[in-house]
Amino acid sequence: MTDLPSWGVASDSPTAEHYRTFGALEARGSSATYEEWALGVADDAEVLALLGELPREKRQANLVFAAARVAGVPVAPWPLARAEVIARWPAIRRTAMTRATQTNEAARCAVLLPQLSDIPGPLALLEVGASAGLCLHPDRYAYRYTDAAGTVTVLDPQGGSGVRIDCAIADAATPMHLPEVVWRAGIDLHPLDPADPDTLAWLDALIWPEHEDRRERLRAAAAVAAADPVQIRAGDLNDLIADAAASAPAGATLVVFHTAVLAYLTPEDRARFRRTMADTDAVWLSNEGVGVFPEFDRVAPPEERHRFILARDGEPVALTHPHGRSYRAL
Ligand SMILES: C[S@@+](CC[C@H](N)C(=O)[O-])C[C@H]1O[C@@H](n2cnc3c(N)ncnc32)[C@H](O)[C@@H]1O
Repeated sequence: MTDLPSWGVASDSPTAEHYRTFGALEARGSSATYEEWALGVADDAEVLALLGELPREKRQANLVFAAARVAGVPVAPWPLARAEVIARWPAIRRTAMTRATQTNEAARCAVLLPQLSDIPGPLALLEVGASAGLCLHPDRYAYRYTDAAGTVTVLDPQGGSGVRIDCAIADAATPMHLPEVVWRAGIDLHPLDPADPDTLAWLDALIWPEHEDRRERLRAAAAVAAADPVQIRAGDLNDLIADAAASAPAGATLVVFHTAVLAYLTPEDRARFRRTMADTDAVWLSNEGVGVFPEFDRVAPPEERHRFILARDGEPVALTHPHGRSYRAL
């Protein structure tokens, strides 16, 4: 092992630390399997050595675990899973090198909707970091909001929907109508085709093992998106935003939004995007994790730092569940 770079093998390496943090903070309470796997990896010199073969940006737990499941590693206790990870490493490495964490969660529409239904329509939606575009159809999904008093409000699109999203809502008025959307478009470094079976298999693998409701929703939302293909331009959001925004129709309110995207950008590129948004007439909705725009972080108390911060036109308006399960207005 002496010829391997030390950051790839040591249990105090950044890679081990990433897995420890992922297990203890991100997976705990959400996926018992990934919590156990991540904490197992963090103390496993042999598996850390394998991870050391990957470029740093490809070592993330989310990517590696999804690649492992695509390669056939069973959802099983870590001692059994680790033996399979080692046995199937060449296939795991191949998938990790060719795929990216493009998790597309239609349920995030539930935390956008309180804002979308408040913006004068009709709306033109432009999503940056759209993945397969599943968040570009918020008007075609059904929602069930439960407020703090336990009152349930159901919103159904005309003609029904195969996608139903549950969301807890607090300190805000429950949306009472779906927006009228007259135009939709996206930008992504690697646009995905929701009609492609291999793509769907990968998006499915990115869903954590215990999240069965998300798996069903993925299939249903992909069918909705595949039925009305939306143009998703391939490239960097900063490079393409002006052109894409310019093609929105007159007579509609342009809404530029993103969820779980800007963490992938450098602080400089995030600042560039923020400046662009400040200079446009579009409504800007940002739904991102704590730390993405440090100036927003003051609204997330220490016990809520795992939440996303939803901001409208650069002002935080709500704390949201990262997968769209809750919305709490500020
Ligand atoms: C975690 S996925 C989120 C997808 C979707 N927004 C959602 O919430 O379900 C992040 C997406 O952002 C895209 N992305 C990351 N950096 C980007 C950039 N600089 N320009 C365009 N897209 C980017 C990735 O390719 C990926 O599809």
